[in-house]
Amino acid sequence: MTPHQPIFGPRARGILHGADYNPDQWLHMPHVIDEDFVLMKRAGANIMNVGIFAWAALEPREGEFHFEWLDDILDRLAEINGFACLATPSGSRPQWLSIAYPETNRVGPNRVRNLPGRRHNHNYSSPVMKEKVTIMNTKLASRYKDHPALLVWHVSNEYGGEDHSDLSQQAFRLWLKKRYNDDLDALNRAWWTAFWSHSYRDWSEIESPAPHGETSLHGLVIDWKRFVTHQTIEFMKVEIAPLRRFTPEVPITTNFMGTYPGIDYFKFSSIIDVVSWDSYPQWHAPYGHGSTGRSAEAENDYRRAADVGFSHDLMRSIKRGRPFMLMESTPSVTNWQPVAKLKRPGVHILSSLQAVAHGADTVEYFQWRKSRGSSEKFHGAVVDHVGHGETRVFAEVAELGEILKKLERVAGSTVPASVAIVFDWECRWALDESQGPRNDGRTAYVETVMNHYRAFHKAGVPVDIVDGDGSIDGYRIVVAPMMYMVKPGFAERVRAHVEAGGAFVATYWSGIVDETDLCFLGGFPGPLRSILGIWSEEIDALYPGETNGVVFRDGNSVELSGRYTGYELCDLIHAETAEVLATYESDFYAGRPAVTCNTVGAGKAYYIAARMEEEFLDALYGRLIDLLDVPCAISSTLPHGVVASVRRGAESAFIFIQNYTPSRKTVDLPAETRFIDMLTGDKPGAKIELEAYGVSVLRIEN
Ligand code: GLA
Repeated sequence: MTPHQPIFGPRARGILHGADYNPDQWLHMPHVIDEDFVLMKRAGANIMNVGIFAWAALEPREGEFHFEWLDDILDRLAEINGFACLATPSGSRPQWLSIAYPETNRVGPNRVRNLPGRRHNHNYSSPVMKEKVTIMNTKLASRYKDHPALLVWHVSNEYGGEDHSDLSQQAFRLWLKKRYNDDLDALNRAWWTAFWSHSYRDWSEIESPAPHGETSLHGLVIDWKRFVTHQTIEFMKVEIAPLRRFTPEVPITTNFMGTYPGIDYFKFSSIIDVVSWDSYPQWHAPYGHGSTGRSAEAENDYRRAADVGFSHDLMRSIKRGRPFMLMESTPSVTNWQPVAKLKRPGVHILSSLQAVAHGADTVEYFQWRKSRGSSEKFHGAVVDHVGHGETRVFAEVAELGEILKKLERVAGSTVPASVAIVFDWECRWALDESQGPRNDGRTAYVETVMNHYRAFHKAGVPVDIVDGDGSIDGYRIVVAPMMYMVKPGFAERVRAHVEAGGAFVATYWSGIVDETDLCFLGGFPGPLRSILGIWSEEIDALYPGETNGVVFRDGNSVELSGRYTGYELCDLIHAETAEVLATYESDFYAGRPAVTCNTVGAGKAYYIAARMEEEFLDALYGRLIDLLDVPCAISSTLPHGVVASVRRGAESAFIFIQNYTPSRKTVDLPAETRFIDMLTGDKPGAKIELEAYGVSVLRIEN
């Protein structure tokens, strides 16, 4: 992959540092705003996300606009050589708009319309709402189009949720008519509506899923979720139109929420210029899933780091590897996690540089200053209620500001991934909806994908995330954990990848349904069957605490050995053309295949029949990394708890070595490589020392 240009072009160099900034809450206390600008300079902050929830300050009464305060803020940002990530304010609506135009309020799945008062609650199907954002966004774009501070548009805030109003029901039916070519019979067949007499005789009979417990038509639920993504994007396009008209050169973003379940973010790829996202890891919290047998405390952050790394990689992959913006993170704590444990010294810098290591070209916070009242007054901020910069948090933020200046060359560089992991929102929706071998919440799609990702994270192997519709060209290994839904074209892409010499890994509970949730007939895993060379006849679900052993056969072609533990789901498969690498140890299916490998052209397709413990995934992927000669960030062996990530630019590679443990670690560096420590300027010798939660950034000339 060729290095990208810095995401903001030549105007803003380096990794930008900033925060959500809400001066509209402090207009009656102008000295506070004066202090903000002094403190921004001290913190090395050069980008502020302004106007996000400021509609009431910009248009306090319908048609009455006040931009003077925003003019002042943008002018001041320009004076300190800073930039505005200027928001459209639709994330939250003024009272007058909700009251005068009830249709702009969202309707819940129970068909009850919300009252005014919250945020993120507009009706994306409302013509009035679209008209009002068009007026507002036109004014913003025309007024600030030539302002030197305007760097990037922040459209709305965390689009999410769904609307069940009549307007959305009508739009849903129109969307369905188009999807099914005006053929209601085709829809009836696709949704299998003959089941329980659900057949539709007229399009008008179709309603969004209602909260009656589970909905029997899974195809309806999946199409509804697709429609919610579509309708959200349609609304965003309305928001974007005036911005493109007046400022065609100014990039557009909207802030995502990682693995948020409600929206398929891959579908935004072509309408935004830059991905941005809001990351709030629960550092130091007991880690929820999987077992390693190691001391929990020392493991928590190391394990959490893999999940966070996955989310960064997912977000970066939406625009095929282009650097992204870390739009929000907390400089200290949130006020909404169950326990607001303070980040231990060093963790703020470590966590921020983790984002940079995975491709972020900005590090930004929610929020610059704590609000004095209302629901987020105790959410962490760069500036606390005390009002000055003499705090532990401010000092770490300012220290990071200095560090980011030293990393200027990193901006625009990319993450050179030769492994792709498939994460598909539609597959997730289908699995979440399905009633099958596990109905106890342990289908666990996101967790399963992250478990497979963790093996590569630990090995320092860069990974891209692709969806079931995306290209897998150019990767050496493609892993599709629990690919329950296989959409048209996926199997063909996988076959081409394997035939050309790539490795493909699939697991239990794959190739079960098509894109409308109809089961494949003729044997699972459906379209993947001949590629994997197996037939899955049944799947066994195990109760908590039950396990089965998986034992590698002597002399298997991948030269793996030993016994590993499977749990929760065990697929009972027949090897058709595949080689059996490992078999089940016990139960009535003892001796039957548990891990297989099928040769297709120049490559191999592996099937993991059971949900396997972490040590198995480490062993299998470690072997594939060797066999496929997949490059790691650093060639030396890292101490447990330390992770290496890499970004590559035109002239240099940048290696981020991150210690996710509360103890000091010594890291051996490969003797043959010459590094420059970007934070100290030194040329390190054979070893570097990392403090507890320490991080080092090393540069290598290409
Ligand atoms: C989200 C929102 C912010 C703020 C933070 C708090 O990310 O976008 O406005 O509420 O959460 O963590």
